[in-house]
Amino acid sequence: MLHPVVLSGGSGTRLWPLSRQNQPKQFLTLIGERSLYQETVLRASRLPGVQPPITICSQLHRFMVGEQLQAIAMGNGGIVLEPLARNTAPAIALAAMQALRTDPEATLLVMPADHLIEDEAAFRDAVGRALSLAEQDWLVAFGITPDYAETGYGYIRQGGALGTDGYGIDRFVEKPDLETAQQYLDAGDYAWNSGMFLFSARGYLDELARHAPTIVDAVERAWAKASTDLDFIRIDETAFAASPSDSIDYAVMEKTDRAAVVPVSCGWSDIGSWSSLWSVAEHDADGNRQEGDVISVDTTGSLVKASERRLIATIGVEDLIIIDTPDATLVARKDRVQDVKLVVDQLKAAG
Ligand code: GDD
Ligand code: MG
Repeated sequence: MLHPVVLSGGSGTRLWPLSRQNQPKQFLTLIGERSLYQETVLRASRLPGVQPPITICSQLHRFMVGEQLQAIAMGNGGIVLEPLARNTAPAIALAAMQALRTDPEATLLVMPADHLIEDEAAFRDAVGRALSLAEQDWLVAFGITPDYAETGYGYIRQGGALGTDGYGIDRFVEKPDLETAQQYLDAGDYAWNSGMFLFSARGYLDELARHAPTIVDAVERAWAKASTDLDFIRIDETAFAASPSDSIDYAVMEKTDRAAVVPVSCGWSDIGSWSSLWSVAEHDADGNRQEGDVISVDTTGSLVKASERRLIATIGVEDLIIIDTPDATLVARKDRVQDVKLVVDQLKAAG
């Protein structure tokens, strides 16, 4: 059976000052009426014949997750609470163990909680293809046609056809530097890794054991000591802390020879930064997106978000991101928003 897994443990630091440790971006209502997490759960639940989704998140966010699921009246396949973040390879291993508890033949559809998908029919079709590849023991990634040299993504070089459903993977390179990313883009035969995956729970754990055995050992120990409390599964902190922190991309996808890719064109976007939010949001004729009390004169290409009590006025500026919150204001050039991380690092260092 197909078990969606919603990865919701990221801290979303590049969307500071709106995204904070106690309320990261996937739980915020950034676009539309629901949070990205809720949209992901609903999208998963609309797939044919799926089991209720498994959520993997930080224990800090357990009540938020519980409330957000209740608000959309969705059941769940368990909320696995991480005592600390160890990145996606261990998180997906926990999801695999949770699914295998009730279903020894479980197949996982891993979905980050911070993506948008516009064309759900195309997405469903790709999931169908991936399912037939997973039945033949492939670990399937979903490939997106790249349109610029993004360094924050994984790049997939397509190999030979696997029937009509997808392709083998010749090379998987996680987060190349700018020069390399540009070469891949120019070469024309690379896809972006979407960050969604589909594979059997067993197959994933086997490949993880092959390429990162210390992760599997630590996660197995932590899982053996887990305790269940209503829908929440609490993971043992000391045992889980012993796991190396690594992503599925580095730990498994770059190394395995069981990787396959299903190309998909489904209006996918990763809401990773303020500029990506600006690009997916609706703008006016001047390319501006304004939220709250905003007055703009001769302003273009900007995202301006006022907080409840303060008016923001802009004059003669272009391509800016201005985000006001009660206790912090961000003003950044749109092409520098990746560096919001540096601000957050400084704040952390200052305690
Ligand atoms: N439960 C849990 N625990 N979830 C986590 C953790 C963790 O420790 N760390 C990250 N996540 C969640 C994030 O919330 C997000 O939903 C998802 O896992 C992916 O993590 P990111 O940190 O956003 O990864 P990325 O964007 O740098 O890279 C991945 O996604 C790209 C596409 O958006 C990779 O898969 C790239 O190859 C891919 O191109
Ligand atoms: Mg991401």
